[in-house]
Amino acid sequence: MANCGHDCILPRPFSVHRVTNYKNLELYFAVLEDGKGTDWLSKREAGDNIGLFGPLGNGFSVRSTSQNLLLVAGGMGIASLYFLAEDELKKGHSVTLLYGAATRNPYIEGRLIPGAKFITATEDGTSGHHGKVTDLIPQYIEWADQIFACGPLPMYKAMARMPELKSRPVQVSLEVRMGCGRGVCYGCTIKTRQGLRQVCQDGPVFNLEDVIWEELASV
Ligand SMILES: Cc1cc2nc3c(=O)[nH]c(=O)nc-3n(C[C@H](O)[C@H](O)[C@H](O)COP(=O)(O)OP(=O)(O)OC[C@H]3O[C@@H](n4cnc5c(N)ncnc54)[C@H](O)[C@@H]3O)c2cc1C
Ligand code: FES
Repeated sequence: MANCGHDCILPRPFSVHRVTNYKNLELYFAVLEDGKGTDWLSKREAGDNIGLFGPLGNGFSVRSTSQNLLLVAGGMGIASLYFLAEDELKKGHSVTLLYGAATRNPYIEGRLIPGAKFITATEDGTSGHHGKVTDLIPQYIEWADQIFACGPLPMYKAMARMPELKSRPVQVSLEVRMGCGRGVCYGCTIKTRQGLRQVCQDGPVFNLEDVIWEELASV
């Protein structure tokens, strides 16, 4: 959670994008239209202090028996999957990263992760497959021992409807509006097949099949 200046009473949640040299933490974020917090963050300069607290909640969980990892990123969801990809490649796993966006993202394409197979999909056809990232998933399902996704709610809803993904081990990192980030305000509560869960403490990572998607609204 990042404190984003005096105008933002509540901190804003962000994923860890990268950790380099065991000490440098990188965030990768979109500056939202009318977004007070992300606007404030984007105006920080080298040497400025930013109040962060975390890490909070859980993370993706890779089984010791898994070798082939399929990562599915939608839009800014690439922020957290970068970290997972780099970490798992160091451990000797094979990583295929499917990245979908509305249009070509030169920033991401300029920072490909060495060793990872990187495949893009763009809705306007400016890079890779012309269409949605979910179109690419079926051809990698057999290869993958586990699937990890981070992206917008419509992407997860599409994945939850895919018959090929039923009974496959799929973990998704949820993005919901958060208040405190510490399990106090209940602002991040969602319905799962195991009952109510708080995304900030019990998540943000859940099994795809555990979330009751019909009950979840976009932020
Ligand atoms: C676990 C978690 C991890 C996240 N990691 C990242 C990350 O790594 N990079 C990143 O860019 N973002 C990430 N987000 C989303 C990020 O927290 C929001 O974009 C941020 O809080 C917006 O703050 P703001 O003050 O700029 O906007 P606000 O002033 O809070 O909102 C401005 C406008 O944008 C809308 N809005 C707010 N949040 C979102 C959203 N998530 N999507 C669409 N519209 C929104 C609001 O409804 C409002 O209309 C993450 C969210 C969660 C829950
Ligand atoms: S954000 Fe307050 S309980 Fe989760």
